[in-house]
Amino acid sequence: MTALLRISDYRLDFETFDGAVKVLDGVELELAEGETLGLVGETGCGKSVLARSVIGLLPRTARVRSGAIAFDGEDLLACDAAAWRRLRGHRIAMIFQDPMTYLNPVLSIGRQLGDVIRVQHAAPGAAAAPALTSAQVRARAVELLELVRLPDAAALLARYPHQLSGGMRQRVLIAMALVGTPRLLIADEPTTALDVTIQAQVLALMRDLAARLRLACVMISHDLGAVAAVCRRVAVMYAGTIVEDASADELLRAPRHPYSRGLLAALPDIDGPHAALQGIAGSLPNLLAPPAGCRFHPRCALASERCRRERPVLRPLADGAPLHRVACHHA
Ligand SMILES: Nc1ncnc2c1ncn2[C@@H]1O[C@H](COP(=O)(O)OP(=O)(O)OP(=O)(O)O)[C@@H](O)[C@H]1O
Ligand SMILES: [Mg+2]
Repeated sequence: MTALLRISDYRLDFETFDGAVKVLDGVELELAEGETLGLVGETGCGKSVLARSVIGLLPRTARVRSGAIAFDGEDLLACDAAAWRRLRGHRIAMIFQDPMTYLNPVLSIGRQLGDVIRVQHAAPGAAAAPALTSAQVRARAVELLELVRLPDAAALLARYPHQLSGGMRQRVLIAMALVGTPRLLIADEPTTALDVTIQAQVLALMRDLAARLRLACVMISHDLGAVAAVCRRVAVMYAGTIVEDASADELLRAPRHPYSRGLLAALPDIDGPHAALQGIAGSLPNLLAPPAGCRFHPRCALASERCRRERPVLRPLADGAPLHRVACHHA
């Protein structure tokens, strides 16, 4: 199967007053059409910077050092502003953590969703068509709200963001992201502001949308358990690189990278709520001067001379499932 998204050897620094912060370090990632992928890793490991690279929303201080990002055969690193207007919101969409930041508090849901529908309809790349009537816009808005399973969609159009719960607002944002019928949806921690039950519902909704619309979905989270429950595949990121990539089952059952094992051990045990939450000792390295070799070696119990010297590449396991890949000299 050909990949919808293919990221290879992608390196990115940020220019800062103190020097180059080496944030992404040879990222390797592929996603097929309609596939759901969870992207997990502790805060600061580069999940959002990677996501923003795929939607062309990097700060001006970002410097791409190497690699390629291909989406549906198109080279995203070569896109100019016009190309991004054609892709972003149309072929590739993204939703963010805090819906309130992206919803206008003084405009009704119907007005905001309607604006997105009108703008999308008139966008470059969209089929040239006469302007939509209000009734058409309204019908499409209702259709989208029903798609994200918001009850009483017609009545919801007249309501304002503050009249909705957090989970409902997140669903509205997902509806907005779907206006352009994208092929890829990236959700950057869409659920961290929500309670656990609502969080699980929003993730499950995205999984169902992915299946129904044949939409590839990247769900970014700190919470390995939450994304592994809904995504077919999970990629674990550490200090700017993918250290393990496997089916969700395989990753939960037999994680092979020492960092993934640590993440898994840190998951709260459902059977024993009083069990101590075991974290991974140490913290992310300073990315102004990241460790040579494997970036995880200063925190790793298995670290050897080779780990300090040679950067491990993400490769399939000799004795594992065919799609299980790990970047570790000791896997
Ligand atoms: N504009 C910037 N200039 C310099 N460094 C930056 C910039 N943006 C992000 N970084 C650094 O890049 C690294 C990765 O940040 P990123 O936001 O991608 O992490 P994350 O994995 O999304 O974390 P979180 O889980 O907290 O959202 C961090 O060390 C961060 O400090
Ligand atoms: Mg982030």
